[in-house]
Amino acid sequence: MARPKITVVGAGNVGATVAQYAVEKELGDVVLVDVIEGIPQGKALDLAQAGPVHGFDSSLVGTNGYDETADSDVVVITAGMARKPGMTRDDLLFKNAEIVGSVVEQVARRSRTAILVLVTNPLDAMVQLAWKKSGFPAERVIGMAGVLDSARFRTFIARELDVSVENVTAFVLGGHGDTMVPLPRYSTVAGIPITDLLSKERIDALVARTANGGAEIVNFLKSGSAYYAPGASAVEMVEAILKDKKKILPCAAYLNGQYGVRGLYVGVPVKLGRSGVEQIVEITLTPDEQAAFKKSADAVRELVDKLKL
Ligand code: NAI
Ligand code: 2OP
Repeated sequence: MARPKITVVGAGNVGATVAQYAVEKELGDVVLVDVIEGIPQGKALDLAQAGPVHGFDSSLVGTNGYDETADSDVVVITAGMARKPGMTRDDLLFKNAEIVGSVVEQVARRSRTAILVLVTNPLDAMVQLAWKKSGFPAERVIGMAGVLDSARFRTFIARELDVSVENVTAFVLGGHGDTMVPLPRYSTVAGIPITDLLSKERIDALVARTANGGAEIVNFLKSGSAYYAPGASAVEMVEAILKDKKKILPCAAYLNGQYGVRGLYVGVPVKLGRSGVEQIVEITLTPDEQAAFKKSADAVRELVDKLKL
């Protein structure tokens, strides 16, 4: 039986890591695309040569074109730029909109039934743009951010309580940015809400560190942003889709009235399976949580409006 086909566009830090984790889990064969000549070809060949050592048979192809991507099952889009000194958030918005728009046009026409997983920032606006450009149903265009943000929160909770990360679940809603909404009430250690285990001050500190999680890593790396955890997070989504796991994960999904938001992609818990977003899971929010979520959705809408889609 043929393996599923996974295209990863952007062979930079996140894209290459997605390709690596995907083949290590043998989720499918991978096509790696980038505009820079030689980079996707070199990384694909190098990674393929890890196959005999790590024991995977997934094939890898690197290319600067899109013909090899035809009939992909899942396309992960990481192509774009990170913010450079002197660049405003808006500069990044318009530059990456141009890149993501052209990438989506190329992939959508060759893989009509694919599921698109967007990673490029600013995430929530890019996924809305990809949905519009692709003409795909909203359930087949999904953004990765919540899995990463909640993985960061889980890491900090596990370290704070000196327990296994496997015991910790965490919920983060809203857009991927300063306004994200970590939900301590729904974050647990072996089923026990962290609100029963940690003081409000400690929880507030972990929440603040989570919301600042991307910047904390940029401050260390200086010339780039995080990619191991982002790569792992995107691959968790790819795995849930390709294995039809019906896994509940926080993802940027299209809201049409849920959580009081209409016509906008924002981070919420969804059920991910072979059809993409199979359900938007609505949880009860307190008035404060609902207000924080609304503030986050408003910030996303402000960015999306600038794109005039
Ligand atoms: P990177 O700079 O290492 O890689 C980006 C790659 O995209 C480069 O190799 C570049 O040549 C390529 N590219 C540019 N234009 C292209 C085009 N038109 N077609 C194909 N490839 C093109 O950056 P990195 O670290 O991989 O990050 C990628 C994006 O993901 C950034 O926008 C970053 O902010 C975002 N990101 C989002 C996260 C999230 O939680 N949603 C987490 C981490 C990163
Ligand atoms: C992060 O959160 C840059 O969005 C990226 O690490």
